[in-house]
Amino acid sequence: MTIEFRLSELWEPDTRRDPHAFYARVRVAGRPVPQVDPAGNRLWIVARHADVLDGLQHPAIGHEVRKHQAQDLPLAHQRSEAERIAARQLIDLDPPDHTRLRGLVSKAFTARTVARLEPWIADVADRLVARALELGTFDGVADLADPLPVNVIAQLVGVPEEDRARFREWSAIIVSAADHDSAATLAFAAYIDELAERRRAVPEDDLLSELVALEAQGDALDRDELVAMVQLLLIAGQETTVDVLVNGIRLLLTHPEQWQDLLADPSLASAVVEETLRFRGPVEIVPPRFTFREIDLAGGTIPAFERVGLSLWGANRDPSVFSAPDAFDIHRPDAHRHIAFGHGIHFCLGASLGRLEARIMFDRIARELHRLRLAVEPDELDGFRLHWGTLPLRIR
Ligand code: HEM
Repeated sequence: MTIEFRLSELWEPDTRRDPHAFYARVRVAGRPVPQVDPAGNRLWIVARHADVLDGLQHPAIGHEVRKHQAQDLPLAHQRSEAERIAARQLIDLDPPDHTRLRGLVSKAFTARTVARLEPWIADVADRLVARALELGTFDGVADLADPLPVNVIAQLVGVPEEDRARFREWSAIIVSAADHDSAATLAFAAYIDELAERRRAVPEDDLLSELVALEAQGDALDRDELVAMVQLLLIAGQETTVDVLVNGIRLLLTHPEQWQDLLADPSLASAVVEETLRFRGPVEIVPPRFTFREIDLAGGTIPAFERVGLSLWGANRDPSVFSAPDAFDIHRPDAHRHIAFGHGIHFCLGASLGRLEARIMFDRIARELHRLRLAVEPDELDGFRLHWGTLPLRIR
């Protein structure tokens, strides 16, 4: 049986209402399915768990496609500062640059660095939950989820209390702006320069101090790389974490038996996090990569220099890995096999931090907000949007 696909099916409103049905058909088709996005770019969709893992580890799939093309021409114009910084983003680099940068950052972004944030995160979560209790009716996005990750990243990096308001404003612009040349990027870069200078003079117990300390050892991030790294933490760590919190709350409240289970045993908070990541993780398709030559993948052939769309949503609902994949079930034994944080060299750098924030938040919600309810039924999400703009909730 051949399964037919329309050319831009992935972006059609019907598919947006139920993207999982589309990925199920791609899995059954047993070949990469070419789709054309609204800008006219072709993207080869891969949706089986095993094939997505293959794609994420494939030596001839990556980001820096220009290096592999015969017509690689030098950039015609002088790049602006913001473009230069954007070009040093870890998530868009291949080895050897990725290996070097990731190695440096991992040295500073250790389990210890993350673990020592735990009491601090718990304190922020306690305050957010206490405020929600006081309010009675509140917004799950603005009042509970949104303030946590940006403050955690500020704390991790080492942004002093008095600069937090400015940092949050830049963050909101950086997270939403596609335009790298915005004045906010430059102001943000100047601020990171200044903060790095202060940490060089007087180190503190934070990520920025650890990153600049590498300079003394001879191998370090250069200035653009340092700014790009802090920017990436915001881009990659803010909306994703908000999404897990907001969707987890909505899934629990629309599955009342499982909500009751969590209330009875808050230690299930971790299981809630993992199943939310599997069932509706923040990343539908990892940032597109390119083939560097013609390759065989997922039961078919993809020509050279084409874009590949590896679908984490497809992988995380693959029935050959997960039993009853379309059921949200915090008790499932196979949830840990999800790949919502990706896999291979780009595996999420903030996975343990994101997990810690979400676990603490679900734990506090379960302990303090027993009577939590949806104040209105949320509309359907269109899929590419990470989460709802608002999630009205009440406890009275
Ligand atoms: C990479 C998901 C939170 C920082 C990734 C990737 C995924 C992902 C799928 C791989 C992208 C790719 O292969 O192209 C998530 C999810 C989160 C989360 C589901 C939910 C909590 C965070 C947080 C931070 C963070 C809290 C940091 C504060 C990063 C960075 C990368 C990354 C720096 C790039 C790693 C590299 O290219 O080597 N994330 N992320 N993420 N994430 Fe996360």
